[in-house]
Amino acid sequence: MTILVTGGAGFIGANFVLDWLAQHDEPIVNLDKLTYAGNLDSLKSLKDDARHIFVQGDIGDKALVSQLLAQYQPRAIVNFAAESHVDRSIKSPTNFIDTNIIGTFNLLEAVRAYWLSLDQPLQTSFRFLHVSTDEVYGSLLPQDPAFAETNQYQPNSPYSASKAASDHLVRAWHHTYGLPVLTTNCSNNYGPYHFPEKLIPLVILNALAGKPLPIYGDGQQIRDWLYVKDHCAAIRCVLANGRVGETYNVGGWNEKANLEVVKTICALLDELQPKTLGSYTEQISFVQDRAGHDRRYAIDARKLEQELGWKPEETFETGIRKTVLWYLNNQDWVKNVTTGEYRQWLNLQYGA
Ligand code: NAD
Ligand code: TYD
Repeated sequence: MTILVTGGAGFIGANFVLDWLAQHDEPIVNLDKLTYAGNLDSLKSLKDDARHIFVQGDIGDKALVSQLLAQYQPRAIVNFAAESHVDRSIKSPTNFIDTNIIGTFNLLEAVRAYWLSLDQPLQTSFRFLHVSTDEVYGSLLPQDPAFAETNQYQPNSPYSASKAASDHLVRAWHHTYGLPVLTTNCSNNYGPYHFPEKLIPLVILNALAGKPLPIYGDGQQIRDWLYVKDHCAAIRCVLANGRVGETYNVGGWNEKANLEVVKTICALLDELQPKTLGSYTEQISFVQDRAGHDRRYAIDARKLEQELGWKPEETFETGIRKTVLWYLNNQDWVKNVTTGEYRQWLNLQYGA
């Protein structure tokens, strides 16, 4: 048995691959394009592990995907591959359309052909799990209930619109062709191996470097934060026991305003790596707001909890402490990411 993971050199994908192989002996074929967000340094510990087969390539490359499916005969696919940063989607949306929409379409088509070629029992047990985001539901008012799976899709950014489109394609491939799909819509993740363009790692690294900690607008935008390993556990749970064709919201019941998140990080750094003079909070700097900035996300994860028995292990307080400690203790990873040196890891690890 084998599973195919796409985007497994990114933040969540790498955590998923590492956690999976720590718990199973089932091999993983990891297809990743290695965009700026893909980092083989995160998978360094699997260097000599035959259970991890890394392939550099694009989910939109139907010929390559078809060849990998025929060669490795995976029993399931977990699709993490995507362009994932809202600010980049605002500056330059093209890659988001190419990968998140057209890439997912091509992946689904290659998978459909492969799935049809399987024997009946394998066809029945096959799963395509699509990893998506709560951002597809749009923005909540302060008094609104958290997003349920039945909420209308109202994406507001090029990123969330492209993810919404991919979710719709996945849904249609189930309803029209019978492909056994599952979709998860998760809130904001944080934890080890997070590329420092996103709020939490950016603030940790800027704080340590003595740089400003940029807060968009008034900093009162709310996100629901989930420790990445809890997300990975939820994906394993849905993959094993989720009902085909269903979507599951994944969240940590941790709604926090951005300013509160940043102040929490500053307080942890004041404790763990104090400055000679003053507090890291002095580096907080309010900057121009993001265009179309969603005000509030919140996830109602009761379906996943009640149907499949998943629960997050970390609270925000325990998870953010682990995360800050991870960045303090993994300065090599940080250095390679921030200098771009990690790109050389591909040649070093797998040859030219
Ligand atoms: P990431 O940007 O850190 O990683 C994305 C990975 O996909 C990278 O390794 C990149 O090289 C790879 N990739 C990009 N385009 C590709 C292509 N065309 N073909 C193959 N590989 C490609 O993203 P992440 O934060 O790890 O997110 C993973 C998935 O989870 C995404 O689908 C994202 O929408 C979703 N998600 C993320 C969050 C979050 O908070 N980060 C929350 C909910 C859902
Ligand atoms: P981000 O980590 O980019 O995730 P997303 O936009 O997918 O939620 O941003 C999290 C929140 O932090 C979001 O409300 C935007 C805000 N933010 C800042 O205030 N300053 C920053 O420098 C960044 C990157 C984000």
